[in-house]
Amino acid sequence: MDDKTFFIETLGCQMNIYDSAFVAEVLTGAGYKQAADAAGADIILINTCSVRERAERKALTRAYELASRRSGDPDTVIGIIGCMAQRLGKSLLDHGGRIDLVAGPDTYPRLPALLETLRAGRDPVIDIARDPGGMYGLRPGGHDRVTAFVTIMRGCNNFCSYCVVPYVRGPERSKPHREVLDEVGHLVDLGVKEVTLIGQNVNSYDDGELDFGDLLESVNEVPGLRRIRFTTSHPKDLTHTVIEKIGSLPKVCEHIHLPLQSGSDRMLDLMNRGYTSGAYRDLAAFARTAIPGVALSTDILVGFPSEEARDHKNTLEVMEEVGFESAFMFCYSARSGTAAADLPDDVPEEEKVRRLKQVIALQNSLIDRKKRCMPGTTVEILVERESQKEPGFLIGRTRKNWLAKLPQKGVRRGEVVTARITGVSRWMITCETVENQIGA
Ligand code: SAH
Ligand code: SF4
Ligand code: F3S
Repeated sequence: MDDKTFFIETLGCQMNIYDSAFVAEVLTGAGYKQAADAAGADIILINTCSVRERAERKALTRAYELASRRSGDPDTVIGIIGCMAQRLGKSLLDHGGRIDLVAGPDTYPRLPALLETLRAGRDPVIDIARDPGGMYGLRPGGHDRVTAFVTIMRGCNNFCSYCVVPYVRGPERSKPHREVLDEVGHLVDLGVKEVTLIGQNVNSYDDGELDFGDLLESVNEVPGLRRIRFTTSHPKDLTHTVIEKIGSLPKVCEHIHLPLQSGSDRMLDLMNRGYTSGAYRDLAAFARTAIPGVALSTDILVGFPSEEARDHKNTLEVMEEVGFESAFMFCYSARSGTAAADLPDDVPEEEKVRRLKQVIALQNSLIDRKKRCMPGTTVEILVERESQKEPGFLIGRTRKNWLAKLPQKGVRRGEVVTARITGVSRWMITCETVENQIGA
């Protein structure tokens, strides 16, 4: 088996990025070698997302494209793993192209065994068994990155009416905090300076001993770690206590990703989000006061069933009032099996797109407004990598998660520097280094 190579292509959210790293670790542990690209790899796995129809279409197109290119070596294994594998299971074999393996997110620890079964038999192997308590931790070897994700929770119990995640990812479970701390410590030993704690709703973290605020305090104590980020927060579960901790713990960055989805109470109720527009605005205002200079980012979902012009207007009003630093914006996509799929998908596609364009235009203007007054101020940047587009420049992020570039001279990857902003564009700030911080 030593000569067998694998390649994983990852679609979807941070949870999948983490899971792909876990799968790579499991396969490497079983003697497989990681290939640099799909061409020539003996096993190609596509880690897929089901959140919107478009995400699934993209994954399917890619899988069948790879399957049809298999001509060079008919023994190449093509596998679909992740959320779409869980959702569609066996039916993924019915689309024409030859798919050899379908495996859901709870099966990854036994992927080597599944590949063995595949080798021994003639039929495709399908495993979408659930493991509602399943949790994995990473102990990567050759990690060369400055930042890393650490999954602290899997699954989701919220059942927002539009969302497929609870169905494909199963119930919420929290990784024991000792394992989280062990993983963070290990990453720091490998050179990681910033960790992002991830889960579908990190504010409901509870391992039986610590809640999310306690966990932030513990991770803040890890020696050598410079920054802590976390995502995603849920407005119904983010407490004032946690907000105050974000403001007072020195390593926790001043940034909260707090999906609003809609500014209309009627929509929020139909979406089963568990908060009102007023409660959201109060929470955002509290965060702005308790954490000086906090950046608030969000997700906006337009065109939910029965959304009217005035609901949409409410969303634009809340966006304007809160003044988000950034946003991910989507058109509603009906997902079968969710509660909202029983409602008529009655906002015409052109109208969804028109509303989406409006929220994007507003968000862009909010960013431009924020950035206009930034030149001349100083920021802290963690340097992540060399710029591919502009040799001689380094790319990093500010604590508020703005992307920043600065000249390479005297600065290296992994360092934390204080820099003065000399120019801004919508997606990038340009800086000059003022000083390298001690202990970087
Ligand atoms: N757990 C996070 C993120 C879930 S998925 C949260 O609670 O916000 C990321 C985003 O995808 C969601 O916030 C939502 O805006 C969007 N999304 C989820 N289901 C969708 C659907 N059916 N159609 C369009 N967008 C969707
Ligand atoms: Fe989906 Fe809601 Fe869970 Fe987020 S909190 S993953 S939107 S069900
Ligand atoms: Fe993430 Fe998509 Fe699955 S958003 S949890 S990869 S459905």
